[in-house]
Amino acid sequence: MVALGTTGLDVFPLSLGGNVFGWTSDQETSFRVLDEFLDGGGNFIDTADAYSQWAPGNVGGESETILGEWLTSRGVRDRIVLATKVSALSTAKGLSAGTIERAVEDSLRRLQTDVIDLYWAHYDDADTPLEETVAAFDRLVRAGKVRALGASNFTADRLEQALKIADSTGTARYLALQPHYNLVERGIEDDLLPLAQRYGLATVPYYALASGFLTGKYRADGSAGSGGDSPRAGAARKYLDGRGRAVLPALDEVAAETGASVTAVSLAWLRTRPTVVAPIASARVPEQVADLLAGARLELTPAQAQRLTDASA
Ligand SMILES: NC(=O)c1ccc[n+]([C@@H]2O[C@H](COP(=O)([O-])OP(=O)(O)OC[C@H]3O[C@@H](n4cnc5c(N)ncnc54)[C@H](OP(=O)(O)O)[C@@H]3O)[C@@H](O)[C@H]2O)c1
Repeated sequence: MVALGTTGLDVFPLSLGGNVFGWTSDQETSFRVLDEFLDGGGNFIDTADAYSQWAPGNVGGESETILGEWLTSRGVRDRIVLATKVSALSTAKGLSAGTIERAVEDSLRRLQTDVIDLYWAHYDDADTPLEETVAAFDRLVRAGKVRALGASNFTADRLEQALKIADSTGTARYLALQPHYNLVERGIEDDLLPLAQRYGLATVPYYALASGFLTGKYRADGSAGSGGDSPRAGAARKYLDGRGRAVLPALDEVAAETGASVTAVSLAWLRTRPTVVAPIASARVPEQVADLLAGARLELTPAQAQRLTDASA
């Protein structure tokens, strides 16, 4: 386990993504994925109230509900670092104090727990004063409903403003950052990562596998291995141009050298980046979990990491 920055939470250096639960994985399969992750040494799970509202027939909350059922049926709540998010569910949109107060209760109920370890602002809310959001989150921490706070999908400017407000008012502040970051999406290296370094934030990148592209199963010749017909294939295949094509051969090379899978190498590269503690990746089926666990344990040499950095520049 590693320290998640200054949150006081100790996490396995790979967070299991929960957006597949109730979307590409039904409840029974989700339980098997979760069992596999826990049995393999994992403890850090990421979900959101909005998961997976986009799937036909869903209303949102499905992922938290499945997770809550699993935590209770296995009796393992105290072994898990549980992270969820507020602001993207259509019926609890934004970060006003009222929305946060209502959303946290709904999440706690669905998750069948009385505390959320890490509560993320899923998206920034330009219509709510940052002061109001900061104060609302602080009340949750003081009330013991939430242990630590994080921010996802904020611009560096807005995040810094929020951090300064919290520091100047002596209230709980965001201690973790959840950005879109992987070998084919490196836009945050100019602003958000330096900000995370300055403020001591722990970075927990999402889409660590670029929706499956960085598993290596999508190839320029159109071939795809198992899962290539996934509902996510469209999102993953869009990387088969420019940077994506250059990254795959470097990934193959490092995978051959280390004996690890392309998936594991992609995750291990993220862990070499400044402030990154635990990438988030999901598994649709239990068979995919082993590669995620391996990605949390694989140590690349500086030369291997640099080769990947250069190939994706
Ligand atoms: N904060 C935010 O705004 C935000 C946004 C997006 C995601 N997230 C979080 O980040 C998590 C990860 O994102 P994600 O799940 O969308 O994408 P991802 O981790 O980049 O991609 C995961 C997908 O890759 C495929 N895969 C995983 N392991 C594999 C293996 N060993 N071999 C072959 N294919 C494999 C699976 O899809 P298929 O088998 O279906 O191909 C899996 O669902 C989410 O679950 C969520 O918790 C947060």
